[in-house]
Amino acid sequence: MTQVPALSPEEAARFRDFERQRHDALSTSYHDFFTPVTALAIGPLLDAVRLSAGSRLLDVATGPGALAARALGRGARPVGVDLSPGMIDLARRLHPEIDFRVADVERLPFDDGSFDAAVCGFALGHFPYPEAAVAECVRVLAPGGRIAFSWWDDPSQQRIQGLFREAIADVGAKPPPAVPAGYSVLKFSDTAEFRRLLDGAKLTEVEVVDHRTTHLIPDVDTLWRGGLGSFVVTAAAIDHQDDATKAAIRAALERRAAAYATPDGLRLPIAFKIGSGRKPG
Ligand SMILES: C[S@@+](CC[C@H](N)C(=O)[O-])C[C@H]1O[C@@H](n2cnc3c(N)ncnc32)[C@H](O)[C@@H]1O
Repeated sequence: MTQVPALSPEEAARFRDFERQRHDALSTSYHDFFTPVTALAIGPLLDAVRLSAGSRLLDVATGPGALAARALGRGARPVGVDLSPGMIDLARRLHPEIDFRVADVERLPFDDGSFDAAVCGFALGHFPYPEAAVAECVRVLAPGGRIAFSWWDDPSQQRIQGLFREAIADVGAKPPPAVPAGYSVLKFSDTAEFRRLLDGAKLTEVEVVDHRTTHLIPDVDTLWRGGLGSFVVTAAAIDHQDDATKAAIRAALERRAAAYATPDGLRLPIAFKIGSGRKPG
């Protein structure tokens, strides 16, 4: 695995702003297209922290709040936080009974040991300093509490994002300027890196488990519009191209997606990892 240099504080601040602005702009379209996909990890995440009724659960980078809502349904006491005020507004509208707050994962507004469990769905690759993010989540966990993160498998296995990446590469389009060169969205698609991250936070009982399923998308147009309305880096990479380049990326996506056509629509392989551990004590 190639070593990725740490981002400078300026690059990290720019990256956070980019994340906040893009997620603010995409909240509703993200929810419509992508919440049903990320929701495939909710059960495994809640199982990984052994959620029980009455548990105080922190959902970090909650987005539209679907995971926190499922936890509430299981009798837990969830709180959701996210960097994006747009996502938090949406989460509050969808689930008014849950406490949602705007917060950066590196500065959680809670005392040490406030939660019995913490989960974080598909956000590790959005944090400029993942080690600091994990350490902050562990800080607010009570001794003996469990924590679990989901992250996408390699794009060769996680085909929704994989098809977009390949279509962009087919056309030779350049990445968006707001994404720092040292940033690697795929770092934790590697099991050894994921495990190293959790071991580095001094967690015990660390496990990284692969999950595989599929998701049906009615047609290429839904995939194209859904991807542009959900993936911050990919959408930014496509948005700043001219119309001819966008059309070429769209055509490449259609060619590649044809491999997954079924009579019901596109049946796309979904692959993610759940990394989990326990705070000593
Ligand atoms: C791909 S979405 C995942 C949302 C939700 N957990 C899910 O599984 O659908 C990533 C989320 O991370 C949030 N995020 C990005 N950087 C963050 C940070 N530094 N602190 C907290 N949340 C952050 C984004 O605003 C966005 O809602």
